[in-house]
Amino acid sequence: MAKPPLSMKPTGWFQVAWSAEIGIGEVRCMKYFDTEMIAWRSAAGAITVMDAYCEHLGAHLGHGGHVDGDRIVCPFHGWEWNSEGRNVCIPYERRPNRGRRIRSYPVAELNESIFLWHDVDGGAPYFDVPDVLAGFDDDSTAADYYPAATLLRHGLELHPQYVMENGVDFAHFAFVHKVPFMPDITRHDFTLPTSYVDFTIAFDENTRAEDVNSGVRAVNAGLGVAATKSWGMVDNRTLTAVTPVDDSTSDVRFSVWIGRRPGDTSTELPTRAKFLADAVIEQFTADIRIWSHQRYCDPPALTQGEYDGFTQLREWAKQFYPEDRAAIETTSRRPGPLGSERTHT
Ligand code: FES
Ligand SMILES: [Fe+2]
Repeated sequence: MAKPPLSMKPTGWFQVAWSAEIGIGEVRCMKYFDTEMIAWRSAAGAITVMDAYCEHLGAHLGHGGHVDGDRIVCPFHGWEWNSEGRNVCIPYERRPNRGRRIRSYPVAELNESIFLWHDVDGGAPYFDVPDVLAGFDDDSTAADYYPAATLLRHGLELHPQYVMENGVDFAHFAFVHKVPFMPDITRHDFTLPTSYVDFTIAFDENTRAEDVNSGVRAVNAGLGVAATKSWGMVDNRTLTAVTPVDDSTSDVRFSVWIGRRPGDTSTELPTRAKFLADAVIEQFTADIRIWSHQRYCDPPALTQGEYDGFTQLREWAKQFYPEDRAAIETTSRRPGPLGSERTHT
C-alpha cells in the first residue's frame, strides 16, 4: 500500500476502544502505531493500555493473560505487572524485578470512549481530550443526550489529517453530503494544540450569518480527535476519532449523541433518535468514502476562499509530527503559542 507523505506517528490523543468493549477484568488485544498493545480493566474499573509483550520472556499478555485486582498476570510464568507496566511480583521469587517495565500509555476515559496518548518520544500529555457532552461552554451534561450510536471502520488507508481538513472544507458539503447550502465559516482558531472552527448554516444565501440559528462548533484536539456540537436542525454531538494502525492504515471511529427529549430517561435510543443518528452516520460514511481513496495533495490547488482555512490547518498540524516538531523547535527559539501551552501540563 502506498505510504502517505505525512507521518503516521503523530503526537496526541487517539481513541482505541469504546468503554463498553472492555468490561471489568477483561483484556483486549489491539495494534496501533505499528505496536502490539493490550488494554485491560482492573477490578476497580481503571483502564490500562500497554505494550502487549511480557518483559520476562516475551509472552503476549493478550493471549491468556488475566487481570487480578489491579494487575495483569502473564500466562507464561505468572509474573504480575501493574498499570504503570512495572513488575510487582514474580510468584517463584522473593522479590519482583523492579528494573523491568512494559511501556504503558497515558489514558483518558470519557464520553463512553477510551483514548491513549501517543508520543514517539514518550512525552507527557500537554492538552486534553475534549469533553464532547459537557465541554462546550454551555450547561449540557451527558444526561442531556441519549447513549451514543457508533460506527467503526477498521484499517482504512487514510491519514488523520484528511479528516481534520474536512472541518474547514466548506465546499464539500454540497457534493459529498448533498445538502442545499454552503456553510459560512465564522471562526477559525488555530493558535493552540486544540483548535476551533465554527460555522453557521443558512438555507438561503440572502440570510446573514448572525441571523442564522443553526450551526456547528468543532473542537480539534490534535489530529486524532474532533468533537462537534450541532444545533438548530438536529441537536447532536459527534466525536470523530482516527487512530493510525501502521504506516498506511487507520481505524476510524465515529460516535453520535442525539439530544434527549426532556423527561425521557430511556437507556436505549428511541426510534426517532435512532433515525437521526443513522442519518448523521450515513453522512459521515460519505466522507469516509472520499478520505479512504484520497491522495494527499501538497501543495493543493486552493481557491481564494479555501486558502485561509486549509493553510492555517496545515500549519497547525505540523506541530504534531515528530519530524516537523523538531524543525519548529530549532527554528523558533522564542516562546510562541506552541511553546507556551506545552509548558503548562
Ligand atoms: S514471559 Fe511472562 S512471565 Fe514469563
Ligand atoms: Fe464532511
